[in-house]
Amino acid sequence: MARITGTYRTSVVGGEKINAFVPHPLPPKGPAILIKGELAELHAQALAAIGRLAVAADLVPSTNWFLYGFVRKEAVISSQIEGTQATLMDVVAYEATRKAERPADVEEVCNYIDALAFVRSEISKPKGLPLSMRLICAAHKRLMRGTRGADKQPGTVRTTQNWIGGNRPGNARFVPPPANYLPDALSHLERWIHGADPIPPLVRAGLAHVQFETIHPFLDGNGRIGRLLITLLLEHWGILNTPVLYLSLAFKRHRPEYYERLSKVRANGDWENWTKFFLRCVTESATDGVSAAKRLFDLISRDRGAVARHKATTVSAIRLFDLLPENPMVTLPRALDLLKTTKPTAGKAIDALRRAGVLSEITGKKRGRVYAYRSYLKVLAEDTATAE
Ligand SMILES: Nc1ncnc2c1ncn2[C@@H]1O[C@H](COP(=O)(O)OP(=O)(O)O)[C@@H](O)[C@H]1O
Ligand SMILES: [Mg+2]
Repeated sequence: MARITGTYRTSVVGGEKINAFVPHPLPPKGPAILIKGELAELHAQALAAIGRLAVAADLVPSTNWFLYGFVRKEAVISSQIEGTQATLMDVVAYEATRKAERPADVEEVCNYIDALAFVRSEISKPKGLPLSMRLICAAHKRLMRGTRGADKQPGTVRTTQNWIGGNRPGNARFVPPPANYLPDALSHLERWIHGADPIPPLVRAGLAHVQFETIHPFLDGNGRIGRLLITLLLEHWGILNTPVLYLSLAFKRHRPEYYERLSKVRANGDWENWTKFFLRCVTESATDGVSAAKRLFDLISRDRGAVARHKATTVSAIRLFDLLPENPMVTLPRALDLLKTTKPTAGKAIDALRRAGVLSEITGKKRGRVYAYRSYLKVLAEDTATAE
């Protein structure tokens, strides 16, 4: 279905003619997006899959169990989509050891985790910022903190022209709106998010993502912030109470199609096929999450029994075990900190978990030892190895 989704603004940059695209505000102009037939089916499937994920995440004694792992999984994969090389293991290892030096790739992922936590805490505070461009900018500031983002105007909507693909606007695949169009485009998006619309919220979250990527308001980090926006919208619209859906998994698996669908909205107004793609991605990622949650839950239940029965076990060992889902790698100082106990007691707890086959030492060194809950991390880290 062809629709006009925006207008082109022609200008000359460095002697070359460029066509920057200014999208019309949402909702899509022209024929309404009808949730019927295949689209209705995909929508129902996606909602059902999200429902199963919410139930799976709620079954465990602490929702934080899966929140810890799944937020990190999303952070790693969303960062990998545009080239970050850090793996989930790198991030978990960094969090366990807090080594002074931190590779820029790991920093990027940690920044994402920090940005998400910050935004959620603002939204939940009575006097915090609501979901708005101001908040999105504050998230961007956190995402871009440190080595790699410093020259990318952290927290600030761009004031210059950017482009996607190619090495200059003149040969780019796509040139987003000129900077002077951004305040308007972004305030329209913000108002549409807070206004009423008959389109179901899950579908709206997908439309908002496209619009955000088309506006491309920042010099860098648009992909990660735009995917974070989906996470926030699912919570904002009550579709999922905690950010346990790692949607980037499906975007990464189908990256060429992801980019192509974004382009086709702009070029042909093809919101329907974008929406179908988006809903399939939701179903795929949520279903993956349910499967991982079940396997992690079974593993924890089995291992907890083994720990409880083991002759070397102690009360602290069981307490430490129960903290592992949120701390799947530990060091002695970290265990000390978590258990708030003495060094010998923490040492014995680690030793008991090692002997029960739960933890294993991964450095092979005498000093600065790191203990990993390997079987747990193996499940969590599926599909997070870097592609290239
Ligand atoms: N053809 C396209 N049209 C619109 N958006 C696109 C297109 N291709 C890629 N994108 C979006 O742009 C993002 C990359 O922009 P960038 O600012 O570098 O974000 P990040 O640094 O977070 O990866 C991609 O992840 C994707 O969401
Ligand atoms: Mg980038």
